[in-house]
Amino acid sequence: MKFFVDTADTREIAELAETGLLDGVTTNPSLIHKSGRDFMEVTREICALVDGPVSAEVVALDHEGMMREAEVLRKIADNVCIKVPLTIDGLKTCRKLTGDGTMVNVTLCFSANQALLAAKAGATYISPFVGRHDDNGFDGMELISDIRLIYDNYAFATQILAASIRHPIHVLESAKIGADVATMPPAVIRSLFRHVLTDKGIEAFLADWAKTGQSI
Ligand code: E4P
Repeated sequence: MKFFVDTADTREIAELAETGLLDGVTTNPSLIHKSGRDFMEVTREICALVDGPVSAEVVALDHEGMMREAEVLRKIADNVCIKVPLTIDGLKTCRKLTGDGTMVNVTLCFSANQALLAAKAGATYISPFVGRHDDNGFDGMELISDIRLIYDNYAFATQILAASIRHPIHVLESAKIGADVATMPPAVIRSLFRHVLTDKGIEAFLADWAKTGQSI
């Protein structure tokens, strides 16, 4: 499973990239707003920090507008992945861009049928929003399962990018189902490393090691 970080905070991205475990980055207009940075400038900086795909989202709602914005965004760097919403115009744009060899992440997916459409449109990634689905009384994990089943039935190459992840259980369940990617807020990625018994174990080993009086 690939790990993407869902943020436009370059300090966080740089730190996580140093672990060697970061495979890509996703951003959205809300995350750009939160960063307080210029969209183009921060996206350029993020693309230089990671080798993997960096999703940058269009804001136009019509196909022509999306194509115009995608043209600007894809010039930023080779690893830019154009993010489009799951609408008719979004999928038209997806079909056109992937046909030209550009990576496309279809975002705001809330049903398996929408994911089926995105795969038929040749999406590189489909982003089902599990957290927001849960928030609205649906089962985000069931959505991931259904998409996995459908994509496997037809051997679609579109990668399932579990998005709107709120906690480590979302990551665990997504991995068990076989999502290809999970995009997580930095805090969720950091929480995956931690376990109270790991900390206690280190503490006990270090205490006993000190008693041996040895050094390595
Ligand atoms: C994905 O690409 C989105 O940026 C993101 O996962 C949305 O998450 P949220 O529902 O926590 O805003």
